[in-house]
Amino acid sequence: MPSTPLSLLSVAALIPFSLAGTSYSLVKEYAGSTFFDEWDFYGHFDNLTNGDTIFVTKDVATSSRLAYVDPSTNRAIIKVDNTSTVLFNDKRNTVRISSKDEFEVGSVWVADMYHVPFGCSVWPAFWSQAPNWPIGGEIDTFEHWNSELHNQMTLHTEPGCNQISPVQTSTVVNSTDCSHLDNSNAGCSVMDPNDSSYGAKFAAAQGGIFVTEYAESGISVWFFSRASVPKSFSSNASSFSTSDLGTPVANWPTGGCAVDTFFKSQNLIFDITLCGDAAGAPAVFAQTCPGTCYTDYVVGNGSVYNNAYFDVASVRVYSVNGTTTIARKNDASALQVSIWRVVFLLAGMSYWLSMD
Ligand SMILES: *[C@@H]1O[C@H](CO)[C@@H](O)[C@H](O)[C@H]1NC(C)=O
Ligand SMILES: *[C@@H]1O[C@H](CO)[C@@H](O)[C@H](O)[C@H]1NC(C)=O
Ligand SMILES: *[C@@H]1O[C@H](CO)[C@@H](O)[C@H](O)[C@H]1NC(C)=O
Ligand SMILES: *[C@@H]1O[C@H](CO)[C@@H](O)[C@H](O)[C@H]1NC(C)=O
Ligand SMILES: *[C@@H]1O[C@H](CO)[C@@H](O)[C@H](O)[C@H]1NC(C)=O
Ligand SMILES: *[C@@H]1O[C@H](CO)[C@@H](O)[C@H](O)[C@H]1NC(C)=O
Ligand SMILES: *[C@@H]1O[C@H](CO)[C@@H](O)[C@H](O)[C@H]1NC(C)=O
Repeated sequence: MPSTPLSLLSVAALIPFSLAGTSYSLVKEYAGSTFFDEWDFYGHFDNLTNGDTIFVTKDVATSSRLAYVDPSTNRAIIKVDNTSTVLFNDKRNTVRISSKDEFEVGSVWVADMYHVPFGCSVWPAFWSQAPNWPIGGEIDTFEHWNSELHNQMTLHTEPGCNQISPVQTSTVVNSTDCSHLDNSNAGCSVMDPNDSSYGAKFAAAQGGIFVTEYAESGISVWFFSRASVPKSFSSNASSFSTSDLGTPVANWPTGGCAVDTFFKSQNLIFDITLCGDAAGAPAVFAQTCPGTCYTDYVVGNGSVYNNAYFDVASVRVYSVNGTTTIARKNDASALQVSIWRVVFLLAGMSYWLSMD
């Protein structure tokens, strides 16, 4: 049957509204000399993924230049210590930062990077999670390890969230079940077919931008290499529409994973660990690297880590319809409330102690 404009129109009317695009406006920017002002530094060894690392405090990260803004480019550097000698049984210093603000459903975060960490034993990620993980879920926008060539994107959730009928350019890595209880918490991962999305080729292409949409209709990621960054982002426009972005590289529609059920406000996170549960598992490590993860790389003078750094021009957060979707966690008023609680508690205690 030949299609007529009328029948095309009636088909278009059946297409979900999300394909028509959603408009977002800028609500938050992490960039330039103030980039590091509103992040918490983990300040403890990696007790999260068993990496052979210490996620240093802000003071140590600043004084040892593991987190700083490069004055020549005005971009943020987040890196592994590549100048200290680590002895057998010790760990190597690195950085994990988490945004003080949480972002609600209806947000998009756009990370503009020129370089991402790579190399044997290196496991970097730019991702987000809700404070009570696995409740509230996790969105991994950028992640891979060792000498892999492609970016991997993943959701981790409570049981019941699946990737069903995605519209995306990536391929499924293994499972479409996002439950943290499935497949040793591997999540529902997809892999970008473009080898400029990670590693040396990412850097050679001058990086690019990762766009993460956290919407009621679903969660999506777009990746654009520097040469193909859409104008609304390269020109720092204060708003954009997802209709200008084309097919996402990753997509988890709400039909298979009820976003409002499985996801809550997210903290944005950058981290780099070494070895650990994923990168350091012997079978995973052997896929792209020779030798033994800890003894042949982490131990030593650190010269193998010259590429283990993020170079970040900005992280910008956009919000639907100009409605702010920022949920502040550590703002001054919240701190004040807890200070007053302590004051009242102390006053109450001294009153009680003075009673006879
Ligand atoms: C990791 O260490 C921190 C600081 O001691 C602690 O608050 C947290 O509960 C630990 N996390 C895990 C998963 O052990
Ligand atoms: C792939 O998924 C299946 C089923 O969930 C699991 O048994 C298997 O271990 C996974 N393989 C890898 C390489 O993760
Ligand atoms: C990957 O991205 C680069 C840079 O934008 C582009 O030149 C190349 O054609 C892309 N490759 C594929 C397989 O899409
Ligand atoms: C981008 O635009 C925002 C406001 O729209 C502004 O605050 C910010 O300084 C701009 N950033 C750059 C790098 O020009
Ligand atoms: C660091 O160690 C590597 C491997 O052991 C060695 O090749 C290199 O010369 C060392 N670099 C310095 C500056 O000592
Ligand atoms: C450490 O790595 C940086 C790049 O991240 C590089 O500029 C620097 O020269 C390296 N330091 C040493 C001592 O090799
Ligand atoms: C945003 O605006 C569109 C179009 O006006 C409307 O359909 C949608 O419900 C709004 N969304 C929110 C979360 O306010």
